[in-house]
Amino acid sequence: MSFSFKRLVSNRKLLISGLATISGTSLYLSNGSLNNNNKIQNEGNLPPLIESRPAPPKREELLKKLESTPNYDVLIIGGGAAGAGAAVDAVTRGLNVALVERNDFASGTSSKSTKMAHGGVRYLEKAFWQLSKAQLDLVIEALDERGNMLRTAPHLVTVLPILIPVYKYWQVPYFYVGTKMYDLFAGKQNLRSSYLLGPSGTLAACPQLDGNNLKAGLVYHDGSFNDSRLNSTLAITAIENGATVLNYVEVVQLLKDENNNKVIGALAKDRETGKEYKINATSIINATGPYSDVILEMDKDPKGLPPKIPKPPKMVVPSAGVHIVLPEYYCPKDLGILDAQTSDGRVMFFLPWQGKVLAGTTDVPLEKIPENPSPTEADIQDILKELQHYIKFPVRREDVLSAWSGIRPLVRDPRNIKDGEESNGSTQNLVRNHLIFTSPTGLTTISGGKWTTYREMAEETVDEVVKYHKFQVNKSITKKLILAGGENFENTLAPRLQQKYQIPTQLAEHLSSNYGTRAPLILEIYSKSKENQLPISLASSNSEISYDIFEHPFSIAELKYSIDYEYTRNPIDFLCRRTRLAFLDSKNAIKSIDGVVKILGDEFNWDEDKRKEETIKTLEFLKTFN
Ligand SMILES: Cc1cc2nc3c(=O)[nH]c(=O)nc-3n(C[C@H](O)[C@H](O)[C@H](O)COP(=O)(O)OP(=O)(O)OC[C@H]3O[C@@H](n4cnc5c(N)ncnc54)[C@H](O)[C@@H]3O)c2cc1C
Ligand SMILES: *[C@@H]1O[C@H](CO)[C@@H](O)[C@H](O)[C@H]1NC(C)=O
Ligand SMILES: *[C@@H]1O[C@H](CO)[C@@H](O)[C@H](O)[C@H]1NC(C)=O
Ligand SMILES: *[C@@H]1O[C@H](CO)[C@@H](O)[C@H](O)[C@H]1NC(C)=O
Ligand SMILES: *[C@@H]1O[C@H](CO)[C@@H](O)[C@H](O)[C@H]1NC(C)=O
Ligand SMILES: *[C@@H]1O[C@H](CO)[C@@H](O)[C@H](O)[C@H]1NC(C)=O
Ligand SMILES: *[C@@H]1O[C@H](CO)[C@@H](O)[C@H](O)[C@H]1NC(C)=O
Ligand SMILES: *[C@@H]1O[C@H](CO)[C@@H](O)[C@H](O)[C@H]1NC(C)=O
Repeated sequence: MSFSFKRLVSNRKLLISGLATISGTSLYLSNGSLNNNNKIQNEGNLPPLIESRPAPPKREELLKKLESTPNYDVLIIGGGAAGAGAAVDAVTRGLNVALVERNDFASGTSSKSTKMAHGGVRYLEKAFWQLSKAQLDLVIEALDERGNMLRTAPHLVTVLPILIPVYKYWQVPYFYVGTKMYDLFAGKQNLRSSYLLGPSGTLAACPQLDGNNLKAGLVYHDGSFNDSRLNSTLAITAIENGATVLNYVEVVQLLKDENNNKVIGALAKDRETGKEYKINATSIINATGPYSDVILEMDKDPKGLPPKIPKPPKMVVPSAGVHIVLPEYYCPKDLGILDAQTSDGRVMFFLPWQGKVLAGTTDVPLEKIPENPSPTEADIQDILKELQHYIKFPVRREDVLSAWSGIRPLVRDPRNIKDGEESNGSTQNLVRNHLIFTSPTGLTTISGGKWTTYREMAEETVDEVVKYHKFQVNKSITKKLILAGGENFENTLAPRLQQKYQIPTQLAEHLSSNYGTRAPLILEIYSKSKENQLPISLASSNSEISYDIFEHPFSIAELKYSIDYEYTRNPIDFLCRRTRLAFLDSKNAIKSIDGVVKILGDEFNWDEDKRKEETIKTLEFLKTFN
């Protein structure tokens, strides 16, 4: 009796103090808004929002630096995951670094991945069946890097639960043990524990699923990230640390010493002006991804020139992965789905991504590497057909918003490949690890690997270069280095942006999850004028106004920021990589071309001809997204 009385009293106290707090707060708030000196915005220990910051050097300045630097310690060819990562690693060790990329940052494979920071559950399965320690190490290494990525780019990587629907009883314990193992191997980098759902729980979590014969659902966790944003973030981080990083500069020849023994630099061409630059460098890193075979041929050639007739790939066995984007209703908002065994034995994902659904498979072997790989109608139908096994409602071709194909570089050690031998056969059993080696000429090549392991690949590559060329520098610091926009990031950023700038939720979330703590820089531009707040397609007066152009949060302000801070040079850079509009909704991206050309043209003083040329080029390119 006395006990429950006490409880009543204490509950009452709680209740009263609760009410007092609530009313206190509201009074406090109204007081504060009346008088701004009275500090009501209890920011607690939140870091301040940074509203201004000098823009990084302009492209012209970087070119001047490229021209005037007598000798770089490290020259990196290729600005994908591997190259951009190596630039950050090398420059933060105190080396003098240049990176040149012939297209745009992450224009290659690095913008066309599945966007998963993963250890690879299915490689784990393989490791067990084949009792392969190597496969297992691969998984553990990737799980480790997944953790590092979440820490160093917190704004670009999120934890995503993934559901494996199970339709056969015997598979339930099988997958359960598998996902538990996955957690176990992640060790302290584990994100969240896997769990098992019954059929009704599975359907509650994912109403889109076909419930017939459904036995269970298993949920495990991986990271999901914005791949090309991560790449440009790496490039910006490298530049801010003093590296000379340039897009649209292509290496056309390797320079060798008089005896044609050692590489001592490269001849690079600015693809915008045609001007050539001789770059001297003590060491050169070849990070050209699926295209690296060409650079290797240059290395073999005494004059450092590429082969006249392209040869079939040797070291890199290419395989294509096709992805399609579907409307958001194909998948729950916060839950991905993994089909562990499609009818032809491949793995298929469908994942919530940027407010839409990304679906894709892996591994179609290729004979040669196209410059702009494009998916065939059959590829698209293939994915739709697999999808239909799971989805209750009809899966329709006209729902496909965008489709693209990326080349996956899978490596074979060139030292084990005889001249004249070609790569062939199934790609699924190739080792998906990376390969780093320095050829007798002193050229260091990095190839293979995954986005997830980019940091480790970069560290090992730079270690190799440091050892080979005996540079006196410290160990890599990239495990601790927070990337641009990740500084002081915490997950209340979006609401704080909303409060401060009075912007819609979608815009706040978009900017926070793509630019992190750099988002206020964009919002300062945004609040400067009414024009800057418009969707980019409305920058041009020829654009038609329709409801759907307001569906995406890409504004003129974001474009202006990306010109000054992120080296956007043309409409494709912006529509495909600084933002992902082309990947999300290719029709809407096409509607935006005129607007983007207008802003870029005004900024770079393009004449009418140049504007027309860029418009046509962009249109052609966006058409490959179907
Ligand atoms: C379909 C698919 C799905 C994938 N999914 C995932 C995933 O979910 N998670 C994951 O971790 N990984 C994934 N990957 C793997 C990952 O995307 C790649 O391993 C990674 O992006 C490769 O990066 P890279 O730097 O080696 O190559 P690239 O990104 O291709 O970069 C090479 C760059 O070098 C440039 N270049 C070439 N020649 C020259 C030259 N002469 N001068 C200057 N520049 C030059 C090219 O323009 C290119 O930009 C996936 C890959 C594919 C294909
Ligand atoms: C509101 O402000 C007045 C004057 O500044 C102060 O006296 C009063 O205590 C404040 N009320 C609350 C709830 O803070
Ligand atoms: C590169 O080295 C050569 C030979 O030492 C030198 O003539 C040239 O000026 C150097 N390039 C730059 C940009 O300094
Ligand atoms: C290397 O480490 C030492 C000691 O920690 C430090 O003083 C030095 O500045 C570092 N060098 C570089 C290039 O970062
Ligand atoms: C990644 O970014 C760098 C620098 O921004 C760029 O040069 C490179 O092309 C990008 N790589 C890919 C694959 O987009
Ligand atoms: C990538 O950016 C989009 C906004 O454009 C955001 O919705 C999404 O959550 C981001 N992805 C990750 C993994 O943060
Ligand atoms: C660069 O690396 C690729 C493999 O990634 C290789 O095929 C190519 O020949 C290398 N280039 C040079 C010049 O060695
Ligand atoms: C590739 O082809 C060669 C002969 O052309 C063959 O000996 C080899 O086994 C093949 N490799 C694979 C993986 O099929």
